[in-house]
This record gives sequence, C-alpha cells and structure tokens, in this order.
Amino acid sequence: MIEVIDLSYTYPDGTTALRDVSLKISDGELVAIMGPNGAGKTTLVKHFNGLLKPSKGKVLVDGVSTDKMTVAELSRKVGFVFQNADHQLFAETVEKEIEFTLKNLGFQENLEELKVKALEEFDLLKYREKSPFSLSGGERKRVALASVLCANPKTIILDEPTAGQDIIQKNNLLELIRRFNSEGKTIVIVSHDIEFIVDLNPRIIVLVSGRVLCDGSVQHVLTNKSILEYSSLTPAQITEFAWRLCEEWTPLPRNIVTVDQLLAALKEHIIGGGL
Ligand SMILES: Nc1ncnc2c1ncn2[C@@H]1O[C@H](COP(=O)(O)OP(=O)(O)O)[C@@H](O)[C@H]1O
Ligand SMILES: [Mg+2]
Repeated sequence: MIEVIDLSYTYPDGTTALRDVSLKISDGELVAIMGPNGAGKTTLVKHFNGLLKPSKGKVLVDGVSTDKMTVAELSRKVGFVFQNADHQLFAETVEKEIEFTLKNLGFQENLEELKVKALEEFDLLKYREKSPFSLSGGERKRVALASVLCANPKTIILDEPTAGQDIIQKNNLLELIRRFNSEGKTIVIVSHDIEFIVDLNPRIIVLVSGRVLCDGSVQHVLTNKSILEYSSLTPAQITEFAWRLCEEWTPLPRNIVTVDQLLAALKEHIIGGGL
C-alpha cells in the first residue's frame, strides 16, 4: 500500500512541482498517472520509492514513511523503470546490469538463479555478454525492465513506458503489465498514451500543475471533456467517433471508450427503435 499524505515538493532551484497531493494506492491495483508535461507526474512517482523525499507531508510504503527507509530497502518493495532506459543503464554487459541490482539489494544465495530467470523472462539470454548500449531501443527497454523486475518488487513504477516503442513492443508491454498485475503486483504507470491506457483499463489519477485534478475509472475520466481539456489529453479515437455520431447523427451514450461499448450501444439503439 502506498499512501501519500499532503505531499508538496519543491526542487532546490525553487520550482514547486507538487502541492498538497493526497492519495492511496492499494496492493494489487493498476493505476495510471496522467496529465500534461510538467504536471509533476515523474516527481510524484519518484516519491514512491524514495528517489525524492517530501518537502512537506508524507509518503508511506506499507505503513512506513519513506524518509525512515533506505533507497535499497525501498527498491526491494518498489521497482522504478525510468522513462529513458539510457538514464538507468550503465554496466558493461546486460548480465552485469542485472547482477548489480541484485547485489545492491542484498540478494546473495539465489543471485545466479534470479539473474538467469530475468534474462530468460525478457528474452535476453543471447545478449548476456553484450553491452546494453550496443542493443536497439526496444532491447534496451527490456534490459531496463529486467534489471528492475529481477528483484521481484511488489510494486512496479513505469514512467512513460511506451515512449519511443513501436506497436509490437507496446503490445508486449501490455501483456507484461497485465500478467504482473494478475499475479498480484501493484502497477503504477505514468503515461499520456491514451490508446494504451484504454487497453489497460486502470484507475486513472490526473495531475495538473502539481495537484490532483481527478481520480477515477477510464470511462469516467477519459470521456469528460473538461478533464481532457484541462489535462491536455485528447480523447481515444473511439470516444471521439462516438461523440461525432452523437453530434451528427443520433444520440448515443457520451462515455464510450472501447469498440465493444460502441457496438453494444449501437445494437441497443437499433433494437430499441432509435433508427
Ligand atoms: N531536477 C529538477 N529541478 C528543477 N525543476 C524540475 C526538476 N525536475 C522537474 N522539474 C520541474 O518540476 C515540474 C514537474 O516536473 P515533472 O515531475 O518532470 O513533470 P511530468 O513528469 O509531469 O512531465 C516541472 O515544472 C519541471 O520543470
Ligand atoms: Mg515525466
């Protein structure tokens, strides 16, 4: 459980990035943090594993304040995958990258086993002796994921995981996130990729100017015109299409986000004699 209580954060240069943010994320939840550039999304999630400590207020992880725990202790509970894999990777080889995390977090006896498991899971065995920097963008992302997930953290933070990823890599990520979530892990994703988020169907928390603007389901948040406008988000294509049908043709529900919902609404409308 992550509990954020009246959190404010000001960077050393005086930029206040978060203002009185309060929220709770329960174990096993799938949550997306959305909002415009500069809204404070990365600053917020960096508090979840102690990379940043509150200027005011508190962040509790499993009931313990993050300023009472070391980064190593927190990293065993909360894994953080950076937006840009290049900011995270540094070791000479893929294998050493994973070894480093495991050693750093205090794993000893089962280190070899965990390392091989992570290399296999992310299809990296063939690259184990290669430099992460000689790999493609998608492969580097997999190394970054493996180097965080090898420690089996209960909570996983993914900052803009789809940035720079093609459709196949995005689908792999979707599958991975769904699988980890179904295994009971808590997942927090920072993203402005609407179609990706609609597919995942998480709880959405919208941040604007360092404050929580709203917190709700995909259907509630991503079909609300004023929320979308305030947070510089564009609706999903299917939502936009349903709105256009409403404006130009016939009344339909305004809160459609998936093809299935649109199809169901059209069928109901036709059977109900709306056409
Ligand atoms: N290291 C830093 N020093 C000073 N200001 C920063 C730093 N990192 C981010 N900021 C500022 O804090 C605000 C929130 O940034 P960030 O959390 O990165 O937003 P987001 O992830 O939503 O794009 C922005 O105004 C940004 O310019
Ligand atoms: Mg960011």
